Amino acid sequence: MKRADVVFSGMRPTGRLHIGHWWGALKNWVSLQDLFPCYFSVVDWHMLTTGYADTSALQDNVREMVLDWLAAGVDPKKCVIFRQSDVPEHAELALLLGMVTPLSSLENNPTWKEQLQELAKTKASLAAEGAQTKYAENRQDATYELRTYGFLGYPVLQAADILLYRGTKVPVGQDQLPHVELSREIARRFNNAFGGVFAEPQSLLTPTPKVPGLDARKMSKSYGNGVDLYETSESLKKKIMGAYTDPARKKATDPGHPEPCPENPPGCSVFALEKLYADEAFVPRRRAECIAGQVGCVACKRDLLNYMEPSFADFRARREAYKAADVDAVLAEGGRKARAVAQATMDEVRRAMRLK
Ligand code: TRP
Ligand code: SF4
Repeated sequence: MKRADVVFSGMRPTGRLHIGHWWGALKNWVSLQDLFPCYFSVVDWHMLTTGYADTSALQDNVREMVLDWLAAGVDPKKCVIFRQSDVPEHAELALLLGMVTPLSSLENNPTWKEQLQELAKTKASLAAEGAQTKYAENRQDATYELRTYGFLGYPVLQAADILLYRGTKVPVGQDQLPHVELSREIARRFNNAFGGVFAEPQSLLTPTPKVPGLDARKMSKSYGNGVDLYETSESLKKKIMGAYTDPARKKATDPGHPEPCPENPPGCSVFALEKLYADEAFVPRRRAECIAGQVGCVACKRDLLNYMEPSFADFRARREAYKAADVDAVLAEGGRKARAVAQATMDEVRRAMRLK
C-alpha cells in the first residue's frame, strides 16, 4: 500500500526571521499546511553542528523563531510544530542511519566543503588584520573547529528528521538540494540492507523569488542588510528610505536602471521589493517610469512603503497576540504529537534491523 504524502521541513533557530524567510519558506509552509500532513521542526541540534561553543542564546532563539512562524500564519491546528531536541528518536535514527552512510557521500557534500572554505577565508582575513583567534597559535588547520564528526554528519541528522515522519515532500531552497539527495541515498541504502521501511523523500523546490538585501547583496544577518518580519513602521521606513537604488539617478529626471544590467549590475533593490509587494499593474508602469526618468527615487520608495506596510502591520498584530507562554504550549503539544509518530517509526526500524 502506498502511503500518503507527508511534508517535512526544518529551520535552524537563528533568531528573528527576515522577509527572505517568508518568501523563501514560510509562505510556502502556510499553503502546504492546508494540503498535506505537515511537520515543521525547529532543528536546534543542527545549530550545534556549527555553533557548539556558545549555546547561551539557543533556546531564546528557538522561541523567537517559533513566534515568527506563528505570526506568519503557520498554524499549530493545521500542522505539527516541534523542537527537534524534544524528540530524542532523531538522535537514535541518526545513529542507525550513520551505519549505512558512506563517508565519501558526506565528504563530497558541497555545503560542507563550501562552509569549510568560508571559514578558512574568514580566518585568513582575520589573521591578515592581526587579530588573534582562539585556535590560531597552536592549530595548523584553520578549519579545525568545523572538522567535527557532528558537522560532517549534518546530512545524516537531516535524513533522520525527514525519515522519522516518512516525509515524502521536503520544501527547501536550492541550497538544500544536495542534502535532500543525500537523504534519498541514505533511505535507499537502509532499505537495501533491511527491507523497504522508508519512502524516498523528494525535494519540493520553493520557486523562490530573489529577495535582495537593502544593499542589493544577498540578504543576510551577517551583512546587516535585512528587513526583519517584525519591523516597526519607523524602522521599516528608515530601512527602505536608505535602500540601494540606481546610483546613476541623481535627479528625478535622470534615466534609471531598475533591473540588473551593465550600468547597474545588482539592479535596484527597491524595484526588486516592489516586484514582491506591489500589485501586478504597478510593476511594468514603474519600470517604464524609472527608465524614462519620470519618477524620483524618494517617491518610488514611498510607494513601496505603502505596499509593504499593511502586511507588516498584520504580522506585528499577530505577533503581539501570541505570548511566550503560547509558544511553550505549542512546542509541548507539537512535541507530543511528533514523538508518538517518531516512536512508531523507530519500532519498525528496530524490528527491521532485528534489534528487537
Ligand atoms: N538544513 C536545513 C537548512 O539549513 C534545515 C533542516 C534540518 C531541514 N533538517 C531538515 C530542512 C529536514 C528540511 C528537512 O535550511
Ligand atoms: Fe529604483 Fe524606483 Fe529609483 Fe527606479 S525610481 S532607481 S526603481 S527607487
